[in-house]
Amino acid sequence: MPRGPVIVRTIKTLDRTIGGYRDAGETLALVPTMGALHAGHLALVRRARRRADRVAVSIFVNPTQFAPTEDFASYPRSFDADIAALRREEVDLVWAPPRDVMYPQGFATSVHVKGPAIVDLEDRFRPHFFGGVATVVAKLFAQCRPDFAVFGEKDYQQLKTITRMAADLDLKVRIIGVPTVREKDGLALSSRNVYLSESERAAAPVLYRTLKESAARIAAREPIARVMSEGWLAIEAAGFAVDYYEARHAETLQRVETVDDGPLRLLVAARLGKTRLIDNIEGSVRTTGAGPGRRPRVLRFARKVSSAE
Ligand code: PAJ
Repeated sequence: MPRGPVIVRTIKTLDRTIGGYRDAGETLALVPTMGALHAGHLALVRRARRRADRVAVSIFVNPTQFAPTEDFASYPRSFDADIAALRREEVDLVWAPPRDVMYPQGFATSVHVKGPAIVDLEDRFRPHFFGGVATVVAKLFAQCRPDFAVFGEKDYQQLKTITRMAADLDLKVRIIGVPTVREKDGLALSSRNVYLSESERAAAPVLYRTLKESAARIAAREPIARVMSEGWLAIEAAGFAVDYYEARHAETLQRVETVDDGPLRLLVAARLGKTRLIDNIEGSVRTTGAGPGRRPRVLRFARKVSSAE
């Protein structure tokens, strides 16, 4: 059984521990999380483990990214199980600051993000969200000074926003994106899936199924507007209230007219009962050489979509 990670709750101990890694010439990868860890988080940890000598995971349910109406108080918390899982992944350090260490009395600064953070997707429905995320992630980077930081494509607009912020503020950290980990039926793993009732859970995979169908139809050059509005209806028919269902440019997240405006990313947010789910997939495909009797050949754009290594 590997030794457990050291659990750090003060800036002083954090400085001392990370200073030790630095003095030994070791590289550090950080995986920021809000805990309630599942296999998606652990995929990020494994990627971090491969990239750096030392791996730190932060666990902090960040109040500034929740609106008063959202689920901050009831957000799932499972610290002991999280630590047990991180021990199995041979994580070196868990940074779990109390709220007043992260936001001491008199805290008065925030990071204001634009670009991919203001494209009328998540930001339309959670206007406070990316400011809160950017501020806490900037603080985590300043606190831990990682060489690498690993984020999931599951939260695609978040990944793009943080990548932009790190570049714009000359933060000396390389942002790595990791593909979404899914259940067998395609539902993206999420800490909030525990909120789903049995019948909601049975309906939930329609999101991924519809995203895949839409991507294939767009690749076959059906008009994007029609494909996306039919996809929207299919998701509604499964019982969801749809916030957005859109094809966007995979890098800028700006609106696109045709598949040639790509690379594309298809993104969805929809509510099932009291649970809001988000998902997205690569849509940066186009077809060529589809002669009679042949299945269309799907070519990926050469440029990698995520900000990965
Ligand atoms: P949280 O929702 O805990 O997610 C932590 C990281 O895990 C994020 O980078 C997220 O994209 C990734 N993740 C979640 N589900 C995933 C899945 N199914 N497959 C792959 N990766 C997945 O995102 C946050 O916390 C917060 O906003 C945070 C960045 C920690 C700032 O507070």
